[in-house]
Amino acid sequence: MFTSSTEKIPETAPIPRHIAIIMDGNGRWAKQRFLPRMAGHKRGVEAVRNIVRGCAACGVRYLTLFAFSSENWRRPADEVSFLMRLFVIALEQEVSKLHENGVRFRVIGDLSRFEPKLASLIHAAEELTRNNDKLTLTVAANYGGRWDIVQATNRMLQERPELAAGFSESDLTPYLALSYAPEPDLFIRTGGEKRVSNFVLWQLAYAELYFTDTLWPDFDSVALERAIISYQQRERRFGRTSEQLPQVAELANQRRQAG
Ligand code: IPE
Ligand code: IPE
Ligand code: MG
Repeated sequence: MFTSSTEKIPETAPIPRHIAIIMDGNGRWAKQRFLPRMAGHKRGVEAVRNIVRGCAACGVRYLTLFAFSSENWRRPADEVSFLMRLFVIALEQEVSKLHENGVRFRVIGDLSRFEPKLASLIHAAEELTRNNDKLTLTVAANYGGRWDIVQATNRMLQERPELAAGFSESDLTPYLALSYAPEPDLFIRTGGEKRVSNFVLWQLAYAELYFTDTLWPDFDSVALERAIISYQQRERRFGRTSEQLPQVAELANQRRQAG
């Protein structure tokens, strides 16, 4: 189990262990080029490929990408079915490459609404890559942060009915869809909007937030590096004062000793 940021102060490192991204702006990217929205989604898949590679190269261990929210079913039917087909094609084309590169692939979200073909491709990909550990790539599909908290609570109470009288954070967290990953250190949203749109609500408790106007299809390894550099300049206090941070306290100590 990983440290909960609210129960214990987590260790931090210059390279975020877990990056979670809302990949937004595909439609606008296409519109700017007088192309159909679908063209933007296609280019979005290429951006995914680059960012997975970029994360693996710089030592990020977990990458979680928001691909389809529980609210995205509200979109026009033709766009929804295009996105589903694109997901199938991407799985068919990319999974063996991910596997060769040591990437573990996982999907979080309510899969029950997906067509059987898509669901079985997802299961096969998860099965094939289950022993890989260079990078864990999670795709959030038909995912919603509220759905996750509710499904976790329901599953917990089903398995442990005695907890209906009261439960703690650590009782619940093993049932959350992302329980196999540490909490995201860095949250990125492309496309200019400054909202979380029902993404991993529980786990964002102490994530550093980074918003960029860059549209997702244009988000490349340079843009990723910029986000990581911004992250490296943050002071992650987890409720403490600046003076209490190990680096700052150490410096103060050295100064005291020097006289
Ligand atoms: C994000 O891009 C992709 C999905 C939500 C599937 P959008 O399709 O939301 O692009 P914009 O926000 O309309 O530009
Ligand atoms: C969030 O993007 C969901 C994904 C990127 C999958 P949206 O484009 O759907 O978000 P809103 O509707 O602008 O908040
Ligand atoms: Mg959008």
